[in-house]
Amino acid sequence: MEFSKGFLFGSAVSSYQAEGNASGERKTDWDVYLQKNPHKNLCLPQDLGPNWWIPDVAEMDLKSLSSLGLNAQRFGIEWARIVPEEGKTNTGAIRRYREIIGRMKLLGLRPMCTLNHFTLPYWVAEFGGWENPKISKAFKDYTEIIAYEFGDILDWVTINEPNQTIDMGYIFGSWPPGKKFRIDKFFQVTQNMRKAHQNAFEVLKKNIPGSRVGVANALKLLKPQNPGSFLDCKVTEIANYLENNKLLDLNRDVVDFIGVNYYHSYLLKFKPTLSLTLRKDAEGVIKTAPFLETVKPENFESDAGWSVTPDFFYELLLNIYEKYNKPIIVTENGIADDMDKLGAFYLLSHLIAEANAIKKGVVINGHFYWSSIDTEEWMLGYKYKFGLIKLDHKTGERKIRDRAKLYGEIANSGKIDLPTLSSKYLSLHQKKELKNLLKI
Ligand code: BGC
Repeated sequence: MEFSKGFLFGSAVSSYQAEGNASGERKTDWDVYLQKNPHKNLCLPQDLGPNWWIPDVAEMDLKSLSSLGLNAQRFGIEWARIVPEEGKTNTGAIRRYREIIGRMKLLGLRPMCTLNHFTLPYWVAEFGGWENPKISKAFKDYTEIIAYEFGDILDWVTINEPNQTIDMGYIFGSWPPGKKFRIDKFFQVTQNMRKAHQNAFEVLKKNIPGSRVGVANALKLLKPQNPGSFLDCKVTEIANYLENNKLLDLNRDVVDFIGVNYYHSYLLKFKPTLSLTLRKDAEGVIKTAPFLETVKPENFESDAGWSVTPDFFYELLLNIYEKYNKPIIVTENGIADDMDKLGAFYLLSHLIAEANAIKKGVVINGHFYWSSIDTEEWMLGYKYKFGLIKLDHKTGERKIRDRAKLYGEIANSGKIDLPTLSSKYLSLHQKKELKNLLKI
């Protein structure tokens, strides 16, 4: 199983999750929301995050990633740092990002930059954030600064997981701005995000020759629990459209690649109910929704209770490519597994799924493991750890997890030497499961 020359083997973080806010100068909607709705002891003020706002600290971790053999790094720029107030540009923040990007490049890591990863400057949230059409012009002004200052970066994600922002912020109400079941906002926000993306796409394409621009979409393969049941199939079709295809359809002509953020999938079952309650658990799995019930595929589970589903991932890649016929970049894929029991299995099985999809003709240009290092997990503080690098939140000490070593071996050789890797990194049970799931 070989990957083409030039395939990107990277890892990813977001600005908010990796940088921290020790100086207190960052003011996003999330900073304010978390002050009002603190994590319940999941992240204490004295706990340490990756602290990548300090270039020397970021460089230390980037060095580890590059010496493993990785050749790319997805990271984010924080809009609130670049434009702290309407009409103002913070040149200090620009200089600091320049420095870290410079170091990344010197280490042989090709940068992929995200312009918006959930967080908005507080002044944008104050005028209504994604609900106000004014945001698309504000996002365009911000992108113009970025394109001018960082024109040496070729790979861009305009918006990370727009479907999550809409779901969690306006339907389930558990993320900023905390609104619940606002179907009216759902359409309005979708339109404004689409326009903001289009504006940013045009600015980047015009100003940076050779750039590749896309959206990172949170995707799952939803399947009917009973494929013979008309109603199971119907609810699955609708849920797939709302969760996956709606935004992909909207953006299909304004992207160079489709960014796939894939973690897990589940099965859906029709549930006769008149209740209109909607609830996701803290881990983001739908628990109650009108007319449907979620069922986990039986398999290994991450610390967050997400099933490990590389077989669904393979099918999803084939479906997306067949439907949209655009190159794919896997912009996120990873597992919460602090003790590193499943990490190598997870990463290996998902890379095999990609290699198999490539064999079938799907064009995939890169893979970004989430996350480079353990980061803050939004409303869940430091509860779940996805990192290639394990971070001790008390001491700041770093350790390379096994999955990172496996990833390095694949990145260095550009291929998956299955017998060697599985004997080195997998348990007997995992070896069997790999055969089972991927028919290899
Ligand atoms: C997000 C990340 C998050 C990860 C794991 C993705 O949906 O883009 O910010 O940390 O999932 O939960």
